[in-house]
Amino acid sequence: MLTERLQKELEQTYAKGLRRTVDGLRFKTAVRAEDENGKEYLVFASNNYLGLTHAPEVQRAAAEAVRWGTGSTGSRLTTGAAFETGELEKELAEFKHTESAVVFNTGYMTNLGVLFALVKPGDVVFSDELNHASIIDGCRIARAQVVVYKHNDMQGLERLLEEIPAAGERFIVTDGVFSMDGDIANLPELVRLKEKYGACLMVDDAHGVGVIGADGSGTAAYYNMPGTIDLQVGTLSKALAAEGGYVAASKTIIEYLINKSRPFIFSTALPACVTAAALAALRLLRQKPEQYVGRLKENAALMRRLLHDEGFEIIDGVTPIVPVLTGSSEKTMRFMAALLEAGIMVSGIRPPTVPEGTSRLRVTVTAAHTEAEIKQAAKTMGKIWRELNA
Ligand SMILES: Cc1ncc(COP(=O)(O)O)c(C=O)c1O
Repeated sequence: MLTERLQKELEQTYAKGLRRTVDGLRFKTAVRAEDENGKEYLVFASNNYLGLTHAPEVQRAAAEAVRWGTGSTGSRLTTGAAFETGELEKELAEFKHTESAVVFNTGYMTNLGVLFALVKPGDVVFSDELNHASIIDGCRIARAQVVVYKHNDMQGLERLLEEIPAAGERFIVTDGVFSMDGDIANLPELVRLKEKYGACLMVDDAHGVGVIGADGSGTAAYYNMPGTIDLQVGTLSKALAAEGGYVAASKTIIEYLINKSRPFIFSTALPACVTAAALAALRLLRQKPEQYVGRLKENAALMRRLLHDEGFEIIDGVTPIVPVLTGSSEKTMRFMAALLEAGIMVSGIRPPTVPEGTSRLRVTVTAAHTEAEIKQAAKTMGKIWRELNA
């Protein structure tokens, strides 16, 4: 019986301390939220890197565009082609220094839609082992050979490129900033390899945009290598404070996706108010990159230093994703619960999101946090961790 089978599987999952639940949460500011019981939290768990969800300019843009309807009521190819979405695509392409860009409904659907449409049988996809689940799922449905290389191991990737022949195209696919480890892909080496082996390079900058590069445009800007990435995927749901995903690439690739990518074709488009919000956020970022990206960088460095001083084991890096290694799933979740009790919200990350034995608290900092808030969080984390380990 299906119900019994599902129940048994759930019980096995729960027995491993891996139960997941969803609870209501309302953000009163970019960094402060309350739950359904009215308990308040200082949040270090969101991907709202620039805090723009609550910027007056962004909220105003969304509110004004609501007059064009709360829903788009059709796919982009029928009735869902809001003017705001087209403008956003134009500005995303400029920002990413590509000929063109197209918006999908989520970052997840973008990865699925791009890989499903572009990768054909006979092609080979080389994928970093720590790539986001949406890349992994996109590879799964692409009906091509997928070769997983060790995380950021460029020598290993080169060996695989040498050894594994492809009847068709080769794709190298990677996160720009890795979502759970917060480290950055080695673009100079990836570009060398893609050129040497004639591969197409796809970089997912979901956590790169607004975060790295002097102008906040992501991995290519961080390495000062504009024009070297064939497919720049991203999301509107993190630094750009809205919902949706996009890919920026050549005119031909974008036109192909519009004509062939099933997740693009067969899903109702985002409404104007959502893409208007993303457009307003993108414009703020482009107008004042040093204000937003610079502040975020300072806040990330402060949190990393303070957590290090509290004695935590942190995965090194420069981004606002600060992974604090905590051991078992069970201990991680106890730590997270105690922090919640103390009014600090961070995410406990367990398998299967990260490999077995690498459970962690994923602490994320935003440009909207104050120095005092960062100090308060780090101090509370240190105190509670020592109590748990006493
Ligand atoms: C690297 C990466 N790609 C894609 C996504 C999916 O984006 P979205 O949340 O917009 O679906 C995420 C996270 O959500 C991510 O971390």
